[in-house]
Amino acid sequence: MKEKCRLGVLVSGTGTNLQAILDATEAKDYPAEVAIVISNVAGAPALERAKKKGIPTAVIPHALYETRGEFERDIAVQMENHKVDLVILAGFMRVLTPFFIRLFPNRIMNIHPALLPAFPGTHAIERAWKEKLPVTGVTVHFVDEGTDTGPILLQEEVPIEPGISLERLEAKIHEVEHRLYPKAIRLFAEGKLEKPERSH
Ligand code: GRF
Repeated sequence: MKEKCRLGVLVSGTGTNLQAILDATEAKDYPAEVAIVISNVAGAPALERAKKKGIPTAVIPHALYETRGEFERDIAVQMENHKVDLVILAGFMRVLTPFFIRLFPNRIMNIHPALLPAFPGTHAIERAWKEKLPVTGVTVHFVDEGTDTGPILLQEEVPIEPGISLERLEAKIHEVEHRLYPKAIRLFAEGKLEKPERSH
């Protein structure tokens, strides 16, 4: 049988996207597996989700490091030790520097709760909602050296119905995220995303 694509997942918080990925990997024919989950926050609920499934975890607290380079070097060492093929950002609240990004060219994926290039950065759902746009959505993209600027891999629209509450819109966006991220990882693992054409 073909070897599975090994994922190294970086988290900081709740980890509902991590959960969706862990659930997807339960299917025998899913072509990827989670090799390690790393959090920069001790006690992040995401770590418990990994432990429940017997997945190795590590806590690398950024505050203990003098430089971002040293912090990222320790993350990279863990990725190397666990033979990671693809780095997955799943609610990881640190910006990665070019040092780390160049170690994994087109091998770091992120999910963003808006239709990039619209609403990069933080509070993307709320910003779209406040503008009363007819539609927002979810984007999975490779990470490059900008903020949410890397090649787009998959997008799905989510309508903003008139009068919808922010909480309801957030819930709808997260539902889509939990479907789209495992799908993008599957496509990568099947070799269907290696040469993304589109960038913005
Ligand atoms: C998601 O909304 C994702 O789009 C953003 O961070 C959030 C992480 O949520 N990048 P969770 O920790 O996966 O629940």
